[in-house]
Amino acid sequence: MTTLITNIKELLQVRDISITRVSGKDMKHLPTIKNAFIIIENGVIANFGEMKDLPNIKAGNVIDAKGKTVLPSWCDSHTHIVYAGNREQEFVDRINGLSYEEIANRGGGILNSAKTLQATPEDDLYNQTVPRIKEVMKLGTGAIEIKSGYGLTTEAELKMLRVAKRIEKAFPILVKTTFLGAHALPMEYKNRKEDYLNLVINNMLPKVAEENLADYIDVFCEKGYFSLKDTERILIAGKTYNLIPKIHVNQFNAFGGIALGVKYNALSVDHLEELNQEDIIALQDSNTIPVALPSCSYFLSIPYTPARQLIDAGLPLALATDYNPGSTPSGNMNFVVSTACIKMEMTPEEAINAATINGAYAMGLSQKCGSITKGKIANLIITKAIPSYGFLPYAFGDNHIDTVIINGEVLA
Ligand code: NIG
Ligand code: FE
Repeated sequence: MTTLITNIKELLQVRDISITRVSGKDMKHLPTIKNAFIIIENGVIANFGEMKDLPNIKAGNVIDAKGKTVLPSWCDSHTHIVYAGNREQEFVDRINGLSYEEIANRGGGILNSAKTLQATPEDDLYNQTVPRIKEVMKLGTGAIEIKSGYGLTTEAELKMLRVAKRIEKAFPILVKTTFLGAHALPMEYKNRKEDYLNLVINNMLPKVAEENLADYIDVFCEKGYFSLKDTERILIAGKTYNLIPKIHVNQFNAFGGIALGVKYNALSVDHLEELNQEDIIALQDSNTIPVALPSCSYFLSIPYTPARQLIDAGLPLALATDYNPGSTPSGNMNFVVSTACIKMEMTPEEAINAATINGAYAMGLSQKCGSITKGKIANLIITKAIPSYGFLPYAFGDNHIDTVIINGEVLA
């Protein structure tokens, strides 16, 4: 089946296959073609160019994109989209003056979500996740990373990852999965952290690997959660199962998590709201990409990741949602892109690069998606008629998406 999109006002993020991520000054550059066409064959980008060069082809489906902009779908490289229930009450508690930390210390937070999830049957968990996935697809996300971490028992961690795998099978969206057994210390292990680490390493991890449930391994490396030493043990254990690290670091405190991630060849280090010069130096000349999660900063009123410092140091940066019930109950990448421009001093070009090609890199998918490139999967956003692409982050809070195409198919 061939689909032809014609008269595209501007086709964004046109790249050669050799570009897997963009860094530093290059992030300011967003290659585009004006008055363009794109041809999709069997779910793949087969050809694109200027309308004047449109070949004479027979297409089963022709979409006239006059006045509209076309770009690759968002690549959301950090989510906890599989969860049970919600934490609306904690949201109100925070409004009334409790801090995120105080709520966590009294058994709320991640442990609250874990309690709910443990009591939720797998089918129910799946059914709670499906509408969220459908919603983020409608909002233009074409590839997503999904973490475990609200199970905190072997059974519940496996349940989360099985649900993520069912999502991968049932929906056209590209999915990568991450094992985050070390997300928080369960109450019953309060004074027995070693025992919990042993459970993660000797019980959960082998089962996750045996069922082939995860591509990546994550740890919440943070004061009050898991130390550098704990994190290192888990990353080493993960390595024996070929699980590449993608870790939560520097959300509230900077104490060397980034350098540790780089040492273990992490694909990404995520959050980075707190950042120092050593962190930047550690990232230089590495293959590890920093990932910022501005919706989390917005929701928790914590600092935004200093994007300018990272980009001006010549580093790449990816943007993701962090969709989860506690710190970011939103999977909207359009909001992420807007917020990055409004609050993190990123230009529209930088933010779009960060949310497409760099997001794809941050989940090992940059050969498959994240740009308009021949041979890549046809995951596309067709906007409504907008004056220019800068309007997407500028006119924040509105939905500028007209049509979403995933795997070459128009999303109903
Ligand atoms: O990335 N920081 C750790 N984990 C999640 C949120 C955890 C929660 O509050 O449920 C995050 O923000
Ligand atoms: Fe997270």
